Amino acid sequence: MSSLRPLREDPPVLEEWYRRHLGPDIHDISSSGVHPYTFAEIRELCRIPAEDLDAVVMDDSVSQGGAGIRQAIADRYADGAADRVLVTHGSSEAIALTLSMLLRPGDRVVVQQGIYHSLGHYPRAAGCDLAELPAAAVRDGEIDDDVLESLVRPGTRAVIVNFPHNPSGATLSPQGLKALTERTAAVGATLVWDAATAEIAHRWEVLPAVAHDDMVSYGTFSKTFGLPGLRVGWAIAPPELITAVFPLRDRTTLFLSPLVELIAERAMRQADVLIGTRAAEARRNLAHLTEWMAEHEDLVRWTPPEGGVCALPIFRELERAAAGPAAVERFCLELLSRHNTLLVPGTAFGAPHGARLGFGGPEEGFRAGLAELSEFLRTRGAAR
Ligand SMILES: Cc1ncc(COP(=O)(O)O)c(C=O)c1O
Repeated sequence: MSSLRPLREDPPVLEEWYRRHLGPDIHDISSSGVHPYTFAEIRELCRIPAEDLDAVVMDDSVSQGGAGIRQAIADRYADGAADRVLVTHGSSEAIALTLSMLLRPGDRVVVQQGIYHSLGHYPRAAGCDLAELPAAAVRDGEIDDDVLESLVRPGTRAVIVNFPHNPSGATLSPQGLKALTERTAAVGATLVWDAATAEIAHRWEVLPAVAHDDMVSYGTFSKTFGLPGLRVGWAIAPPELITAVFPLRDRTTLFLSPLVELIAERAMRQADVLIGTRAAEARRNLAHLTEWMAEHEDLVRWTPPEGGVCALPIFRELERAAAGPAAVERFCLELLSRHNTLLVPGTAFGAPHGARLGFGGPEEGFRAGLAELSEFLRTRGAAR
């Protein structure tokens, strides 16, 4: 046995679940992304001839991201201000770099309940003093006024949110976002907004990525663009925060590949096409899911998602039994072993009676997965 004794940390439940259970030939109705594109589809839709790929010089890129991809992101999300864009290895890296440089021990930070794991990890790891924005305080696109005022108070360093929320699909209306940005600005806090799936909106219009100069927002090709394998994301942030992350980047990933940057730039210039096709598929799936939920309301309840491509159905049998966290994991494991169908247990998001159900995938597979879930629930219901 090796004499190495590395430090061990508990992995996030979500990633460990996928490490163990995601495999080929299953009905995956768990994802927070859409039906991924093949590279051939991307080359055709984004008009990338082989000569353009061949012409790429496989040299270093630059710390902030190559000029072409940065400008393409800025044109779509930051009114053309490329100095406010940092291009990263997925938004995961943008989150890690910016939160590491923004937060200090003892900072008061408001974090949304059930938030995506890395957005909660960095403030905890920095030794911040955390306050939770309850999920129930977000209703009809707005954060309850009293909650907003008492939580986001003077002395707050940052407010970290993800809208549309993964996995509940709850989001803010333009009015709700305005109220949040005004309140954070009034108390001198930085608003940190993960907008991973903001481009697919169901209830209100798509929100602007930059609603205030001092905020930080994150975006990614992994979700609504259907390009999780590209591993490109970004932060839009004040230029002084962007340059402050360079030393950390110098010691971790340095920069992206120019080949990947070229593909990302072309994909960003064709964002409407890439997102539009997948958003239409997700909407058809959501219509089917809405009917399915109505047909199974004796077994499951939900709040319909207002944005993004996932939802958090709550299983009545687990709720009635006030089951502990292990029960929903057993439930999802049985669904997988008997019906070859994957959900993510709500324990990954602090919701022990529910599971993440993603409706962004290929229509046929999505319907097949839901039919399996139906049979699973009916069989369990009858056995009780
Ligand atoms: C809300 C949210 N933010 C960020 C990420 C990180 O994604 P990526 O690093 O692929 O951009 C994810 C991935 O699941 C996510 O759901």
